[in-house]
Amino acid sequence: QAIHLKDYAPPPYLIDTVDLAFDLGEDVTRVRSRLAIRANPDAASPAGALVLDGQDMRLVSVALDGRTLDPSEYSVGPESLTIPGPPEAFSLEVVTELKPQENTSLSGLYRTSGNFCTQCEAEGFRKITYFLDRPDVMARYRTTITADALKYPVMLSNGNLVASSKMEGDGRHTVTWEDPFAKPSYLFALVAGVLVHVEDSYVTRSGRTVTLRIYVEPGNQDKCGHAMASLKKSMAWDEEVFGLEYDLDIFMIVAVGDFNMGAMENKGLNVFNTKYVLAKPETATDTDFLGVEAVVAHEYFHNWTGNRVTCRDWFQLSLKEGLTVFRDQEFSSDMHSRPVKRIADVQRLRAAQFPEDSGPMAHPVRPDSYIEINNFYTTTVYEKGAEVVRMIHTLLGADGFRKGMDLYFERHDGQAVTCDDFVAAMEDAAGKDLGQFRRWYSQAGTPELAVTGEYDAAARTYRLTVRQSCPPTPGQPTKLPFHIPLALGLLDPSGADIPLRLAGEPGPAGTSRVLDVTGPEQVFEFVDVPRQPVPSLLRGFSAPVKLRAPYTDDDLTFLMAHDGDAFNRWEAGQTLATRLLLDLVADRAENRPLELSPGFIDAFSRILKDPDLDPAFAAQALTLPSEGYLGQQMPVIDVDGIHEVRTFARRAIAGRLRDDLLATYRAMGGNEPFSIDAAAIGRRALKNLALGYLMALEDAEAVELCVGQFHNAQAMTDVIAALGLLADTRLPQRESALRRFYDLWKDEPLVVDKWFSIQAMSERPETLDEVAALLAHPAFEIRNPNKVYALIGGFAGGNPVRFHDAGGGGYRFLADQVLALNRLNPQVASRMVKMFARWRKYDPRRQSLMRAELERIVATPGLSRDVFEIASKSLEAS
Ligand code: ARG
Ligand code: ZN
Repeated sequence: QAIHLKDYAPPPYLIDTVDLAFDLGEDVTRVRSRLAIRANPDAASPAGALVLDGQDMRLVSVALDGRTLDPSEYSVGPESLTIPGPPEAFSLEVVTELKPQENTSLSGLYRTSGNFCTQCEAEGFRKITYFLDRPDVMARYRTTITADALKYPVMLSNGNLVASSKMEGDGRHTVTWEDPFAKPSYLFALVAGVLVHVEDSYVTRSGRTVTLRIYVEPGNQDKCGHAMASLKKSMAWDEEVFGLEYDLDIFMIVAVGDFNMGAMENKGLNVFNTKYVLAKPETATDTDFLGVEAVVAHEYFHNWTGNRVTCRDWFQLSLKEGLTVFRDQEFSSDMHSRPVKRIADVQRLRAAQFPEDSGPMAHPVRPDSYIEINNFYTTTVYEKGAEVVRMIHTLLGADGFRKGMDLYFERHDGQAVTCDDFVAAMEDAAGKDLGQFRRWYSQAGTPELAVTGEYDAAARTYRLTVRQSCPPTPGQPTKLPFHIPLALGLLDPSGADIPLRLAGEPGPAGTSRVLDVTGPEQVFEFVDVPRQPVPSLLRGFSAPVKLRAPYTDDDLTFLMAHDGDAFNRWEAGQTLATRLLLDLVADRAENRPLELSPGFIDAFSRILKDPDLDPAFAAQALTLPSEGYLGQQMPVIDVDGIHEVRTFARRAIAGRLRDDLLATYRAMGGNEPFSIDAAAIGRRALKNLALGYLMALEDAEAVELCVGQFHNAQAMTDVIAALGLLADTRLPQRESALRRFYDLWKDEPLVVDKWFSIQAMSERPETLDEVAALLAHPAFEIRNPNKVYALIGGFAGGNPVRFHDAGGGGYRFLADQVLALNRLNPQVASRMVKMFARWRKYDPRRQSLMRAELERIVATPGLSRDVFEIASKSLEAS
C-alpha cells in the first residue's frame, strides 16, 4: 500500500498539450479532455500500456486519434483507465461526468458557497479527468468553460483569457483560457461563480504591466486591501532580492470559504482560504494580518519556486515548500523585525515540528515512503525544510546563496527536479561541498548538540567541545553525523563580544562566526581570550537542533541582559524559565511549596521597564514557555502539573510586578489611529501581554480594564485579547461578552471561527461539554474546514489540560469527530487524528485511553487512506 522513493521511474508517456472543455451543471458537470500524448524517449523501458489515473467519476467515452473506442478496447478500474497498446504518438479524447456538489473532500472540483472551485494538489486532478497525474508530466493547458451566465458570471482558469462569448439563447456563456507555460496537473485551477473583484496593477522591473485581481464573494471587497498591498510588496521583493519577475499579464487570487489548507499556488490563479485574504482592523487580528501577508507572499513566490521549477515526484515536496517557506520568512523579516520574526518561526518549529520529529510520524524532509501524500504536507517538509534551506544560506552566505539560486533557475527552468538538484546547484555555484549536508534531507529526527566550554587562564584559550547525536526514528535506528552550522560568539564580563580566532588561524576575525560541526565530537580552541567568557551558542538558531549547554542560572540571566544576538537574548530567558518551571513541576509532584525565584522576577521586571526595548521583542521575552513546550521537556508529560505551575508562575509575576504591568498597559495603550506597521503591532502585543498578566490576578481593576477593552476597542486584536481572557474566568461578564460578540459578528464567518476557538480553548472544566454542544450550534458546519480547525482543533490542539483530562472524555470526543470527518473529508480527518500521535508521552492511564481510541478508529470499516496511515503508524512505532 505504501509508495517508495526508490521505486521512482520516469513516466512511460508524456503529455504535451491538454485541451479541456467544462460544461458546468447543477446536477452533472461534463468534462471533455483532449490530450496530445507520446511515448517518453527517456523512459526506462518501452512504453507499453497507457495507464491514466482517475477516480470518483463516470467515464462517458474514450476516443483515440478521432475514433471512439469500444469498451472492450480499454479497461476502467476504481483508480485508473488502461489502454493496452497505444501508438507512439496519438491524441486521446476522454469525456467524464462529475458531481461537484457531492464532493465534500474539497479535492478535485467542488462547490463552495454555490461557486465552483478546484484544488488539484497533490492528486485532485484525477478526480476531474483521466490523466498522468504526476508532477513530472508537464503540459500546456487550454481550458474552455461553459455555464449559466447568471449563476456563474465569472469563469476563471490559468493563464490568459483568449476568448469569451456572450449569453447564448439558452442563457449560457463560454470563456477560453490559455496558459503558455507548461505545468504539472496539480497546478491546474478553475473557478466559476458570483464573484466581485478588486483590481490593481504592478509594473515589473523590465517595464511590463501586470493586472492584479483579488476575487471575493460580494460584500467582502472592503477586506482586500491588505492582501493586495502584500502582493505588490512580494512582487517587488522577489525582483530585488532574487531578480525574479512575474511572467504572465494577469495574476489572480480567489478567496473561498471552504478550503482544506491555507492557499494554493495554481499558475496565475491562486486559490486562497478566505482566512488568508480577508482582513480589516475591525475583523482581523494582527496575527491574521501577518498571516495574510505571509501566505500571499508564499503563494506568489511559488511562481518561481514550485511552478517554473517544480518537483519530479511528491517525495521532493520540500524542494518547493521548504524553499518557498524560507523565502516567505525572509520576506516577512525584511518587512518587519527580523529577530521578532525569527523567534516566532522557532517557536512554531519547536511547538509542532520537534514533536513530529520525535513521534511515530517522524520522517525525513524528503520522505522515503508514504501511503497518502496528503499526509506529508507536514511541518517537517515545510518548516524543517525551510530550516535546511536557511542552513545552506548560512553556510554559503547571502551572495553564495543568490548565485546558487541563479544557477538553479538557469539549469532547471521549465523542469521537474529533485532536492538533490537544488543542493547541487548551490554547491556548484558557491564551490562548497554539501555532500555530508545532504543527510538533512534523508535522516529524520532532531539532532542534539551538547556543548561544553573550558577556559585556560594561563594559556588564554577557550576550548569548546561539541558533541552531536540524533535519536532513532521509525525505520532509522542509527544516524550518521550531520553537517551543522553552529553560529556563536563569546561574551566578556562586560557583555561585549570578544574577537574570535581559532588556534592556527591568522589575524583576528569578527566577533560572531559559524563553526562547521561535522563529526560526532569536535573540539574548537579559541586563542587570545583575555578572560573567562560566557558563550552565546547557536545564535539566531543557526540549526534546527536541541542545544544542551551547562549554563548556570547566572549565565542565562547575563545572556538575557547582554547578548548582542537578540534571538539568543530571548532564548536565554526561555531556557531559564523552562528550567525554573520544570523545577516547580517537580516540587508540586512531591508536595513541596511552590516559590518562584526572585531573581527571575527581577529579570522580567528589567525587561518590562527597559524603555529602549522593542515592545514586540519585550512581549516575546515576557511570555513563559507554552504548556506544550514544557511538556516536551519531560520524559512523561505531567499535564496537570504543568498547567497548575504555569498558572502559579503567571500569578506570582503579576503579583510582584502589578504596578509595572499597569504602567506598561497604559503606556502601550495610546489612542493613536489603527495602523498595521511593526511598531503598532508590537505595542498592541505588549499591551495585551500586560493585560494577560493582570488578569491572572483577576482583581477588580484588571477585570475593569479587560471588560472595558472588550467593549471599547476598535481593533479585533484588542477585542479578542480581552475576550480570550474573560473566557477563562467564571466572571458574570464572561457570558455577556461571548453573547455580545456573537451577535455583533454572526455574519462574518472568520470572526465566528474566533468565537468558536476561544470557547474551545477555555481552561474551565466545563469546556468539553460546551464544545460538544457547540457542534450543534447553527453557525457550526462540519463540512467547513475552518470551523473544524477552530472548534475541534482548538480544543484538541490548543487546550492540553482539557483535552487530556484524565477522564478520557476529550479523547472519545476527538475520535468520534475523526470518524465523522473520515466519511466527509479525509484530509481534515487526518489532521485531527494526528492529535493522538504522541500518546506514548503520557502516563499509563492516559496512554491506554488514547490507544483505545486509536484502535477503535483503525477497526472502523471504510477508513480513508489518510486516517488509516496516521492511526496505524501511531499504534505501530514505539
Ligand atoms: N502548495 C500549497 C502551499 O503550500 C499547499 C497545498 C496543499 N494541499 C493539499 N491538499 N495537500 O501553498
Ligand atoms: Zn507552499
